Amino acid sequence: MSENATALQARALARLETIWDNEQLEAWRVEYIGRKGAVNALFEQISALPHTERGAFGKTANELKLALEAAFNAKIGAIKQIELSKALEAEPLDVTLPGRRPSRGHIHPTIQTLQEIYKIFGEMGFQVYRTRQVETDIMNFQLLNIPPFHPARDNWSTFYVAGSDEKVLLRTHTSPGQIRAMRAAYPNPVRAILPGLCYRYEQVSARYEIQFNQVEGIVVGHNITFGNLKGTLTEFARRMFGERPVRFYGDHFPFTEPSAQMDVRCIICEGRGTDALCKYTGWLEILGSGMVHPQVLRNGGYDPNEWSGFAFGMGPERIAMLKHGITDIRNFWNNDLRFLEQF
Ligand code: DAH
Repeated sequence: MSENATALQARALARLETIWDNEQLEAWRVEYIGRKGAVNALFEQISALPHTERGAFGKTANELKLALEAAFNAKIGAIKQIELSKALEAEPLDVTLPGRRPSRGHIHPTIQTLQEIYKIFGEMGFQVYRTRQVETDIMNFQLLNIPPFHPARDNWSTFYVAGSDEKVLLRTHTSPGQIRAMRAAYPNPVRAILPGLCYRYEQVSARYEIQFNQVEGIVVGHNITFGNLKGTLTEFARRMFGERPVRFYGDHFPFTEPSAQMDVRCIICEGRGTDALCKYTGWLEILGSGMVHPQVLRNGGYDPNEWSGFAFGMGPERIAMLKHGITDIRNFWNNDLRFLEQF
């Protein structure tokens, strides 16, 4: 019987040698190692053998089966290899063809806007001062003249951090950095911008995000006047938006007195008040500002009888929207390349 197996193996392997296409290979598989193939036929003979011979016969049959399966698998690989070489020959590689250019990322439109802001204020002698995103209630509100339960808090819907003794929150604006910058600089004058992420507990929409950037500015010195505020911010707008009229508009913030919002003439309707971007007013609001409130100066360590200052706060995403006519703030966080690649 074992001769039989040896002969079968030799015959099967000799046949396999000559096969170089998948169709014939499949026929070979069915004939030899398929369910009704020659190898299984050998196994079926076992029951007809005397008990003493069964073990040895089974072992031989098994070895045969494994050998044929291995040869079969090797052949699959060999055929693939041949097909590949043939394909390469038919379509020769041209190593002189230029490679595919890897696509490079680029800077996010928010960061681009931030960098423009840094450049403009840098040229005017402002330092960049970085402060924390997780703040205390005291810094974010109380030292800015917004006591607990004061209705002004409604302007800053707040994420509070649970489980802390002192009330801790995600800063709702960069203004608490004013206090930190003043305390770090005292008794020197301050001329700094404070960029970074802020968080508000908002219903997200085309106009509101729960996270966004702000750039705060603070100047403290001797004889700093509202004229300095107007001059600095007007020059900022000129460098950011080009030559276009600006206006200062009475506003209210608890930490500045007086306070003003600053508008630039609408880039779409040019002041005619005919489009939705400016809500038909002809003006786009770009920042809030004001003279630092005497109590806030004091909270920063400065005596308001000797020192004065101005401050402002703007949103770089909003500025990018106004500059480029972007109508949905959610674009800045969607990671949609069709949006990002336009900048
Ligand atoms: N913190 C204000 C806000 O988030 C913006 C602001 C207004 C900042 C007036 C200022 C300022 O420094 O003087 O809406």
